[in-house]
Amino acid sequence: MTSESPSLTGTDPTSGPPPGCPAHRLGPGGVHRIYGPDAEDLGGLYERLREEHGPVAPVLLHDDVPMWVVLGHAENLQLVRSPSQYTRDSRIWTPLREGMVKPDHPLMPHIAWQPICSHAEGDEHERLREAVTSAMATIDHRSVRRHIGRHTQGLVNGFCELGRAELVSQFAEHLPMAVMCEVLGMPEEYNDRMVQAARDALKGTETAIQSHTYVMDALSRLTARRRTRPEDDFTSHLITHPAGLTDDEVREHLRLVLFAAYEATANLLANALRMVLTEPGFRAQLNGGQMTVPEAIEQSLWDEPPFSTVLGYYAKQDTELGGRRIRKGDGLLFAPAPGNVDPRVRPDLSASMQGNRSHLAFGGGPHECPGQDIGRAIADVGVDALLTRLSDIQLDCPEEDLRWRSSIASRHLVALPVRFEPKPQQDVDLPPRAVPLPPQRSGWQVGTLSSDPVPTVPAQPTPPRPPHVPQALPSPAQPARRRGVWRRLVDWWRGE
Ligand code: HEM
Repeated sequence: MTSESPSLTGTDPTSGPPPGCPAHRLGPGGVHRIYGPDAEDLGGLYERLREEHGPVAPVLLHDDVPMWVVLGHAENLQLVRSPSQYTRDSRIWTPLREGMVKPDHPLMPHIAWQPICSHAEGDEHERLREAVTSAMATIDHRSVRRHIGRHTQGLVNGFCELGRAELVSQFAEHLPMAVMCEVLGMPEEYNDRMVQAARDALKGTETAIQSHTYVMDALSRLTARRRTRPEDDFTSHLITHPAGLTDDEVREHLRLVLFAAYEATANLLANALRMVLTEPGFRAQLNGGQMTVPEAIEQSLWDEPPFSTVLGYYAKQDTELGGRRIRKGDGLLFAPAPGNVDPRVRPDLSASMQGNRSHLAFGGGPHECPGQDIGRAIADVGVDALLTRLSDIQLDCPEEDLRWRSSIASRHLVALPVRFEPKPQQDVDLPPRAVPLPPQRSGWQVGTLSSDPVPTVPAQPTPPRPPHVPQALPSPAQPARRRGVWRRLVDWWRGE
């Protein structure tokens, strides 16, 4: 059954909006703004909208531009899996076509059509997406894990002796950028300036354009180098793919991949670490070995998806979604954050979702995130290694002092200050090792790595279990075997 409201955009010239049309009544039971003071608590607002309107609700974006937000889990999946009814090409969006969305609209970077696979559909989407996924398929996952391990070790070395760190700016924002610069084939471009530039470009501050130019210059240099002399990296495979991408297309896809990976994975790392540090249930489960780090990451993807919404999908024809009548040209927000907490799939939000990966964090359908394995690997290996090395890590501020910066698209933790007993640096080419703690302290048992004390020199070490590979610790009566296990472990860590 569809609701009686006509097009959300109310642009039917013959009928005009009927009384009670939600697009024309602000406030309870009507349409709500999802920007400005009304939207300080977006999570709470989505729940009110769900109560008032059900799984698909009318909302207003900046400048009161109308949109639907999809709140139901099933309805979100239906949206992204129905390419015959919905497209990501904003050029058919009625408010855009009718000039309601001004060129300086704050969401224009998300809305404006670009020649990239995210906005393409049909044959063109297939051509571009095939080039991206084929290039991704050539990435050697063992060497990616090696890069993640080395960079995690390097970042932790940067603050381990100080006994204090701020994990958003010193860890979560750096690790994905460092790894992605390696994957794309420009490890020399990874530095503080590159991380700052990406952060600044995405925040949309007054220096965003210069920062964006800084990143694009690096990507242009990389494209030119690999066009002349391809190597074995993501960029070279993108360039040489039979889809025949132009230099502009290559650059735009490198930008898409770099920014999508950086922003989403930085959020995921910060969210997962925050959860581990502040939620006693999590801590207890990790300590007791009932939950592994990959399972904790998956729970974080349910509870705080790194992209809360994706702007947007647009109706190609008159249709129906969640009992709502959707008109051709209407815009819809794909919304993992409210979709993941739909009471029809999660009647009890405190219940663990262990073993269930059907969250919406990576989207679905033809545009489903092709980089999810890399995002998960960065989070799994990075969090596991950090908790292994800083096994006594604690939040260094009252939990209530943590602050988030929210936009329609995502919610970023501003800072995550932590403290721990100062620890020595470690060799970045070796697996992370726990350092013995004073006896009164209880260390982390993160489930995938042992926190047993290990000597600094790996001559006769007690081998920690490699991340995610359950393995019995050898007894001290087996020295020869212990060396073999250590060797194998080091080889595994190095991706050899
Ligand atoms: C935790 C990390 C990540 C999350 C939560 C995430 C989430 C998403 C979501 C929600 C979409 C949009 C789906 C849609 O339009 O319906 C997307 C698209 C995309 N992501 Fe990710 N992503 C992550 C990491 C990555 C990484 C590491 C890469 C690259 C290595 C990547 C590359 C892309 C690309 C290229 C697209 C566009 C695909 C298309 O439109 O066909 N993402 N991602």
